[in-house]
Parts: sequence; structure tokens; C-alpha cells
Amino acid sequence: MKTLNINLKDKNYKILIGKGLRNKIKNILDENFKFKKVAIITDENVYKIYGKEIKQQLLSGNKKVEFIILKPGEKTKSFNILTEVYNKLLDFKITRSDLIIALGGGVIGDLAGFVSATFLRGIKFIQIPTTLLAQVDSSIGGKVAVDLDKGKNLVGAFYHPELVIIDVDVLNSLDNRVFYDGMAEVIKYGCIRDEKLFNTLMSFNCKNDLINSMEDIIYTCCDIKRQFVENDEKDTGERMILNFGHTIGHAIEKYYNYEKYTHGESVAIGMYLITKLSEYKGYTDINESNKIKKILIKYNLPCDINLEKFDDLLETISLDKKNLDNVLNLILLNKIGDAKIVKSSLEFFQEVK
Ligand SMILES: NC(=O)c1ccc[n+]([C@@H]2O[C@H](COP(=O)([O-])OP(=O)(O)OC[C@H]3O[C@@H](n4cnc5c(N)ncnc54)[C@H](O)[C@@H]3O)[C@@H](O)[C@H]2O)c1
Repeated sequence: MKTLNINLKDKNYKILIGKGLRNKIKNILDENFKFKKVAIITDENVYKIYGKEIKQQLLSGNKKVEFIILKPGEKTKSFNILTEVYNKLLDFKITRSDLIIALGGGVIGDLAGFVSATFLRGIKFIQIPTTLLAQVDSSIGGKVAVDLDKGKNLVGAFYHPELVIIDVDVLNSLDNRVFYDGMAEVIKYGCIRDEKLFNTLMSFNCKNDLINSMEDIIYTCCDIKRQFVENDEKDTGERMILNFGHTIGHAIEKYYNYEKYTHGESVAIGMYLITKLSEYKGYTDINESNKIKKILIKYNLPCDINLEKFDDLLETISLDKKNLDNVLNLILLNKIGDAKIVKSSLEFFQEVK
């Protein structure tokens, strides 16, 4: 098992990464926390595969355990579901000295984190992320949120977990598309901070090679995110580099109404297109976009869209809440492994056609 420590101004917490850690949850909790009750928020898919064994494990102690099982998918991360979840916690009579566990992908992590931040003005919570995206990204850094009808993540908070428990083995039950969706974020870390990681990912011959190195890869990604979060917890400076590929990516997701491409697939296209453009404009070394294209194809990710659509995309980018007064913080690469923030505007994209 590997351990990372996140040290923030007002809080420190650990990330545990290892194989089979889900079988040790009870011991880990008993060693680290005093509590009487634990509420586990999860979704139906995750509960079906891992719920029973985790329930049995936790019930073997003297703690009260309650599962709150929600429908899978982004629709669950809705402001409208909060009352139902809060009511279940009230029925369970959970108190501020008890614990909430988020057991699932990014949807459950963001929702359960937001519930924990707000219920009774804050309950301690633990992230047990079960998708690759959640393991390398959403479970770390304290961003928790729910969606409104008018947009994603519009209501949220910075609220860090007490602990993150990453069991690498749970990735084995992921649907292929969901697995590779998370690989887009893994590749992103290579692009922005770690050329060695990028080259290692390029060198694998098959999914098995990748899976065999997964513990190290997840550790490397979490460690990179740790550094950005420690240096810029509230995301006003350097942490924005983690948004590499996301300006175009978010626009693609939104343009296709979150139906055609997943988040990771959209970010993949975004990473390639922005790098192609920034190469053309002289911000990035020549040939880096080709390397990105190659690695995305290798990991079953898309890298291009029909460019006739680019005008529509530009309109979507211009409506993005982060695009204040037409100032865009673009994340560009000098080269693979080295990223920078460039203040620009929508005009940057005009020449992509
Ligand atoms: N807080 C952050 O910093 C941050 C960062 C990136 C993304 N996000 C959010 O994350 C969410 C997306 O997360 P996601 O991609 O993990 O999606 P998700 O939570 O919807 O999970 C994807 C699918 O995989 C299933 N699943 C999860 N774990 C499984 C397992 N081990 N085996 C089999 N099936 C499993 C789920 O039931 C679901 O159907 C979005 O809402 C996004 O906004 C948050």
C-alpha cells in the first residue's frame, strides 16, 4: 500500500492506495476514527458489485451502518435529490460525531461530499472512489458540488474528506468506456507535469501492462494533483493548470448535451485541439499534438471532431461562466510535461479552421 499526505492550511488528510483495500475498510476506520454510525452513499451499480461484502464487513463491528443507494448517472448529482438524502440521514439519526462514506464514481463523490459539507453544517466524510476518474481526480482536492437544471456543478463548496481510500482492484469491474474515460485524466497529468508518465503510458503494449502498473500510475497522478491543490487550494492560480483540455472539452460536452461524449472523451479532444492550435501559434513545440493524438488513439479516446462545428463550439465557450469579460485562462503546453497559463480571449480560437 502507498500513502500520500495532503497538507493544507487548515487540514491534513491521507490518501491510501493499494490492491484489495476495500476488504480493510473496517480496520482502517476503527484505527483512524471514533464514531457510532456510518452512512454509506453509493449507487445501484456499485452496491450490486461491492455493497454486500462491505456491509458485512462493517456490520461485524459494533457500529450502526446505513446504505443510501441512488440511481447511477449524472442525473443523480442533482440539487433536487438533496432533500431525499438529507431525510434518509435524519431517519438514521446521524450526528456530527459520525461518518459519511462516498462509495462510487465522481457523481457519488461530488454529491456525498456536498451532502457532508452541508448536513448539520458539516459531517466528516471519507472518499472511496471506484472509477479511474474518481481515483485520480474527483476524490482529491475538496471540490464537491451538485448540478442545477441550468448547468453542472453550479452549487458547491470546497470541503475535503478526512481520508481517501483507493482500491485499485475495483477498476476491474468497470465498463471499458468508463475505464478509458478516466485514462483521459491520467494522460492529462502526463501532458501537464510528467513526461516520464506520458512515455510510460506510451510504452505499454496492452491493457494488462497498464493494469499491472495501475497502483504506481494512480499514485503518480494523485501526487501531481496533491501539489497543485496544496499550492493553490481555492483554484485561483496554478491549480487552473489541471484544466488542460477542459475549455474546449466542457464546450463539447455541453454542445452535445452530455450525450455523445463522456467527460474524459471531451477532454481528450480538447487536449489535442488546443495543442494543435497552440503549436500553430508558436506557444508549443512542434509535433507535441501528434504525440497526444497517438496516445489518445492508443487508449481508445477520440481526438478530433468535425471542425465545421467549431463556430458553434466557440459560442458555447463564450457562454462559459469562466470566460469573464472575454478573458480566457488558457492552459497550454510548452511541451509534453510542461504546462503554462496564458491569458487570452476567444480570438485565440478563430484560426482553428
Ligand atoms: N470534484 C472534482 O474535482 C471533479 C473532477 C472531475 C469530475 N468530477 C465529476 O465527476 C462526475 C463523473 O464521475 P465518473 O466519471 O466517475 O462517473 P460516475 O460516477 O457516473 O460513474 C460512471 C459509471 O460507472 C459505474 N461504476 C462506478 N464504479 C464502478 C465499478 N468499480 N465497477 C463498475 N461500475 C462502476 C457507475 O455506477 C456509473 O454508471 C461528474 O459529475 C463530474 O462533474 C468532479
